[in-house]
Amino acid sequence: MLATTDGWSPIFYVRFFILTVYPEDVLLTDQLAWQEVNKPAEGEAVCFNLKARVPLSNGQYADLIEQGFLICYQGQFRAWRNRCPHAGAPLDWVPGQFFSENGEQLVCHVHHAHFQPLTGECLSGPCTRGLFPLNFREDGDKIVVPVAADDSGCE
Ligand code: FES
Repeated sequence: MLATTDGWSPIFYVRFFILTVYPEDVLLTDQLAWQEVNKPAEGEAVCFNLKARVPLSNGQYADLIEQGFLICYQGQFRAWRNRCPHAGAPLDWVPGQFFSENGEQLVCHVHHAHFQPLTGECLSGPCTRGLFPLNFREDGDKIVVPVAADDSGCE
């Protein structure tokens, strides 16, 4: 097994780097449990709460709770974290409102970044990357999304 001169495995340093620099991406891998949410209608969104246990570099864990949202656009579903890649704010400054007025884009209401609904790509505004995707799967009339701390939604 590989070890550095201070006795720590190189894997430790890689993991520390990932947790320190890319906590958003690590969060997405912590999806061991699932919840059902109702399918949104065309052009609408449904919010749900997310909870993730993230290992810290000191060996402890931190529980992060935030929201995700599920959209239906052109008959297709997508699930995104409700966290703007620009400054980390929830996109729906107006609760539950994610779509632009013409219904063609997702909008962060804080500084008006616009995103493509199906790809999450940043189309305009101060964002430098796209939305953070969440896994999901269809299960009959429901859609199964990552586990939530509770189901209070974001109404
Ligand atoms: S926080 Fe979303 S555009 Fe600035």
